[in-house]
Amino acid sequence: MKILVTGGAGFIGSHVVDRYCALGHEVIVLDNLSTGQEKFVNEKAKLITADITDREAVSRTIMQERPEVINHHAAHIQVGYSVENPQFDAENNIIGLLNIMEAARKVGVKKIIMASTGGAMYGNKQTPFTETMKEEPLSPYGISKRSGELYLNYYHELYGIPYVILRYSNVYGPRQNAHGESGVIAIFSELIAAGKQPKINGDGTHTRDYVFVTDVARANELALETEATGEFNIGTNREISTNDVFSAVATEFGTSSEVEHGPERPGEQVTSSLDYSKAQKVLGWQPSIKFEDGVKEVVEWYTKTGI
Ligand SMILES: NC(=O)c1ccc[n+]([C@@H]2O[C@H](COP(=O)([O-])OP(=O)(O)OC[C@H]3O[C@@H](n4cnc5c(N)ncnc54)[C@H](O)[C@@H]3O)[C@@H](O)[C@H]2O)c1
Repeated sequence: MKILVTGGAGFIGSHVVDRYCALGHEVIVLDNLSTGQEKFVNEKAKLITADITDREAVSRTIMQERPEVINHHAAHIQVGYSVENPQFDAENNIIGLLNIMEAARKVGVKKIIMASTGGAMYGNKQTPFTETMKEEPLSPYGISKRSGELYLNYYHELYGIPYVILRYSNVYGPRQNAHGESGVIAIFSELIAAGKQPKINGDGTHTRDYVFVTDVARANELALETEATGEFNIGTNREISTNDVFSAVATEFGTSSEVEHGPERPGEQVTSSLDYSKAQKVLGWQPSIKFEDGVKEVVEWYTKTGI
């Protein structure tokens, strides 16, 4: 199958590309390399360096390549930055998606798979979050992702394009960018590898649901195969505190698990975890990598490869 993966030079997208290439699919990557890296792109894939906000470039690429499936991972992903610059976030995550979908409908794309958020979609509700809960994103980033979901539903209703939306929890694994605000495992690993002392914002008792990137890539494989259209939580239904994340990373590095604490970030969500039973039932997906094993892999990657 011919598949266009936007954001395929990034952390998650490049693992999806690896999986699709290993399955024998023909993969085209469209990425502006703003946070992604050329060296992450599988050598079997073709890289087109372009920006999804560039309507002409997106249209030209999709018209020329005529992919059967589009897997959309390109996005601006920093929640804090989206609060400071909601227009930038919307240009990338909403207008960028519309540029893709307008070209996609013209070439008769058979399916669109989109990376969305589970962590920033449901607001401050009782965990675990399920897809039946009302979407109440509390940041421009979450709002832009929800808008994208609603647009996919619109293109499905009007043009019959099937879609699979994967709402990820906190994804972690090799190649994650440690220079943003998310990806605490990457941030701790890079600092410890450089002999620096990480600092936790707040008392470290906030929890998140950490899902390993190869499990996420597997969800993208199953999304290709399914006949279903809809939204699916992709997480582990396990909450891990930031203190426990730090101690797992420090233990793997063999360093002290004593850590400094800084001030709490205002407005930060306290808990988050995703019920994945819908993905399990409909897609046949479940997480397979234990948190401790995943952290070991990340630490090994930082030790051997670095970013
Ligand atoms: N990392 C997580 O925990 C997480 C959780 C939920 C959802 N997601 C979603 O998964 C997707 C991938 O996230 P990631 O963590 O791999 O981030 P990433 O920054 O590593 O990947 C994003 C990729 O998109 C590219 N990109 C960004 N803006 C672009 C533009 N305007 N035009 C073309 N390419 C552009 C970047 O260069 C990069 O390669 C995003 O859609 C993100 O919202 C990530």
